[in-house]
Amino acid sequence: MEPEIFFDNNATTRPLPEVCQAVTDAMGAAFGNPSSDHAAGHRARRTLAQARGYLADLLGCRPEQLIFTGSGTEANNLVLLSAAAGRRACRIVSTPVEHSSVLKTLDALRQKGAEIVLIPVDAAGRLDLDALEQALSQPADLVSVQWVNNETGTVQPVLEIADLCRRRQIPFHTDAAQALGKLPIHAEQLPADFLTVTAHKIHGPQGVGAVYARNPERLAPMLFGGSQEAALRPGTENLPGIAGFGKAAQLRAANLPAVQTALAALRDRFEQQVCRLVPDVTVNGDPGNRVCNTANLCFHGLDGQALVARLDLQGVRCSQTSACTSGRPEPSYVLRAMGLSEEDAYASIRFSFGLFNTQDEIETLRN
Ligand SMILES: Cc1ncc(COP(=O)(O)O)c(C=O)c1O
Repeated sequence: MEPEIFFDNNATTRPLPEVCQAVTDAMGAAFGNPSSDHAAGHRARRTLAQARGYLADLLGCRPEQLIFTGSGTEANNLVLLSAAAGRRACRIVSTPVEHSSVLKTLDALRQKGAEIVLIPVDAAGRLDLDALEQALSQPADLVSVQWVNNETGTVQPVLEIADLCRRRQIPFHTDAAQALGKLPIHAEQLPADFLTVTAHKIHGPQGVGAVYARNPERLAPMLFGGSQEAALRPGTENLPGIAGFGKAAQLRAANLPAVQTALAALRDRFEQQVCRLVPDVTVNGDPGNRVCNTANLCFHGLDGQALVARLDLQGVRCSQTSACTSGRPEPSYVLRAMGLSEEDAYASIRFSFGLFNTQDEIETLRN
């Protein structure tokens, strides 16, 4: 069998050995229900508090401002549905390049009568700040704009967006699932009201996310039950997952600049190689303003889907970010929103790098 070369780290990342150990410990020596009032419960509570502290350090916030969820998807749902909860009329401003967990939730809210305004993006995938300012001349209940796009790595002008929102006292949510561990984040300084993160993009476990909330009282729970996570996400905590998330956050907080440098070196070398070997390749997104690990390349005139399948046969995992609608693949809505033709969107492939990738893997591309 071909050795696997995993260039799809924006989809998910392989958990680090230290993360696996933290998960194993939480299922073994540190086992317990954090709600129990005995020594095993106290031990589990300490594990939970430690993980929350590590994530708070990475996000630049206080531990009590974090609510653990079952995924980034759930975190996005919690924030968006909270904005609409208890309101007859609701107006939310977002963009057409958000992750499906935002766009589909907005669709559901629209069906219930909410007004959803999507601000266009330019050819690099950056939101049009003038259009946003204009949209905010009317009251809004929430602005939700991703920090980093999962397909292109384009970084949105979140500081400017946060400032526009703050001046109008409109709550600002940013989906930071792809920004966490790739950019420095200071949630309190941004300032964002809500922020979404997920563990499995930073070599943590799958199935655990979190919401940062400046004021958690402004969230409305989607589930009802116990008092876990300040009753905003009741249900016995996924302690192994949260412990693994904490460990991944602790490790990333300790070496973010080194990770950024290493991943950017891999990505840049990869792009150089591809552009040297393949004629007529262009970079999608904003090469001067994207996260360190993402390359979205358009192989003009080629069938991206067939290329992804061919690379897969050779052991190289990458993705064509198309959605499958009733069996027929649709071109990426993100690339289409940036103005790419249907043909170029179909010809585009995302390569995303992580801590387990090596220069050797990039050099094998020559063959
Ligand atoms: C930008 C963005 N938001 C949200 C999510 C959803 O996170 P999860 O997979 O934990 O549900 C992802 C994951 O692909 C993402 O890339």
